[in-house]
Amino acid sequence: MAAAEPLIRSQELTVRFGGNVAVNRVSLAVEPYTLKSIIGPNGAGKTTLFNLLSGQYRPTGGRIFFKGRDITGLNAAARTHLGIGRSFQLTNIFPNLTVLENVRLALQSRAGISYIFWRNFRAYPELEDRAYELLQRVLLEGRWDAVASTLTHGEQRKLEIAILLALDPELLLLDEPTAGMSLEEVPAILELIRDIKDAGQRTILLVEHKFDMIMSLSDSIAVLKEGRLICDDAPEVVSCNPEVLEAYLGGGAKDA
Ligand SMILES: Nc1ncnc2c1ncn2[C@@H]1O[C@H](COP(=O)(O)OP(=O)(O)O)[C@@H](O)[C@H]1O
Ligand SMILES: [Mg+2]
Repeated sequence: MAAAEPLIRSQELTVRFGGNVAVNRVSLAVEPYTLKSIIGPNGAGKTTLFNLLSGQYRPTGGRIFFKGRDITGLNAAARTHLGIGRSFQLTNIFPNLTVLENVRLALQSRAGISYIFWRNFRAYPELEDRAYELLQRVLLEGRWDAVASTLTHGEQRKLEIAILLALDPELLLLDEPTAGMSLEEVPAILELIRDIKDAGQRTILLVEHKFDMIMSLSDSIAVLKEGRLICDDAPEVVSCNPEVLEAYLGGGAKDA
């Protein structure tokens, strides 16, 4: 039987900023319905790789394929439309709207309902119900009527994930979803990511520093060092690779 097509795949992906090669000939494949973590020291190119995959940056070399289709030339909006979802810390939250309104707006944009109808309160009760369900999913329903700007860091991250889920992407790019959270808040987010994975509907690429957590959560772990992919394998294999231990655990990742 032929191997399944990867959901997303990069081929020799490269981006240069001046003389700095931030992502250097990275060839990476993510199988459908799996979770791959990307690890590496600060400045290794993890966020830049996400920016390339989501279309925020254009590569200076290499190609990106989504479900076998070359999407290298597509902009970020077109990639979102295809099912590539990227969570942006804070930038996709409307601070003056409530938590529920934020999620409902994302659902409306997914459903293609015109923005001008949005102020028509309760025009779409089913969207409001669905938004509330998503808030339950991320354990934020108790804050449904809070103004988004009043949320804690942890609550903001949860809202970002709810908004991302509202957009219903096949591929989730999660860049340090627990950044800025208090230690008590972290397990709930990682459990949520585990639930999303276990539901079997989505594929996840995750950048996360909590090494123990990603060991148990990931189907595979890719290691970047100075823009290069130095390892991509099962967690137990990656964790005993001496180069990985040196590059990552010895590379100033104190919070690992
Ligand atoms: N827009 C940009 N302009 C110039 N340099 C950039 C830009 N984006 C990222 N870089 C550089 O790319 C390298 C990788 O950064 P980044 O992807 O943020 O690393 P990581 O997320 O692994 O910490 C760094 O040297 C960073 O300064
Ligand atoms: Mg980063």
